[in-house]
Amino acid sequence: MSAAAPAAAARERLEPLLAGEARSRARLEESWRAGYLDLLDEQPESTGATQNLMLTRFVPTIYERWWRPALGRAFKGFTGPGMAEEVRIARLFLGLTHGDHVLDVACGPGNFTREFAKAVGPEGLAAGIDASPTMLARGAADNARAHAGNVALIRGDASAMPFEAATFDCACCFAALHLFADPFAALDEMRRVLRPSGRIAVMTSVRRQVTVRPMKPVVERLSGMRVFEPDEITGALADRGFAEIRQRVSGLVQFVGARLPAGAE
Ligand SMILES: C[S@@+](CC[C@H](N)C(=O)[O-])C[C@H]1O[C@@H](n2cnc3c(N)ncnc32)[C@H](O)[C@@H]1O
Repeated sequence: MSAAAPAAAARERLEPLLAGEARSRARLEESWRAGYLDLLDEQPESTGATQNLMLTRFVPTIYERWWRPALGRAFKGFTGPGMAEEVRIARLFLGLTHGDHVLDVACGPGNFTREFAKAVGPEGLAAGIDASPTMLARGAADNARAHAGNVALIRGDASAMPFEAATFDCACCFAALHLFADPFAALDEMRRVLRPSGRIAVMTSVRRQVTVRPMKPVVERLSGMRVFEPDEITGALADRGFAEIRQRVSGLVQFVGARLPAGAE
């Protein structure tokens, strides 16, 4: 077992949230040997250059401190929210309270997961899922250093998540939906794992007037990042039964928050 293994409390809390085979694999020590629960036998399909960088050893080492703040600033614009403000927006949309189970989809090295863990307190659980082994290894080491006892990291695919239905109080997906081969399957999955009254927060790309429509496929092909139409994500959430949908646009980025009705199945 790695020195960066998660606290026993986090593993115990995670286990009942996992679906059948994933739950059995979580009981095997070897599934946790890299400090996170590895449930992927194959890497999900890559969407291109940006996605491939997430799998390198180098990017995770500079991601939280340099990469994410710098790229975020470039996309959000100089007057857009900084990283602390992004955390505030996520927490606001997710309405985190003590004891919540929160899922951070495409968590990278857990930069947001650890913030959520503080908000849900020792009785809650912050679970981060990501496909990149190098991002998760970095996250596991950072969690151990931060003594984050209520965080569990899982290697899995956002479009086919290993959780039981209706298990999380909230789900967050920041800076990642535009990298997924099938972003709408990932939204289906987030909807599936949320309990009634569950909250969702998404930060992703948005097409602005400056991105001339015929240029969009070129931008997407070169970067490997999808550029969503202004009402595409809000519409997709409405189609999946979410209400109270809020959208904040900043530069080439949108923040979207929504909630499932109390009686949602
Ligand atoms: C730019 S990072 C975002 C990290 C963090 N959420 C943030 O806001 O800083 C994007 C992450 O998406 C992950 N990712 C891409 N495709 C994925 C998939 N199909 N399933 C799970 N994670 C995926 C990558 O491995 C990478 O760590």
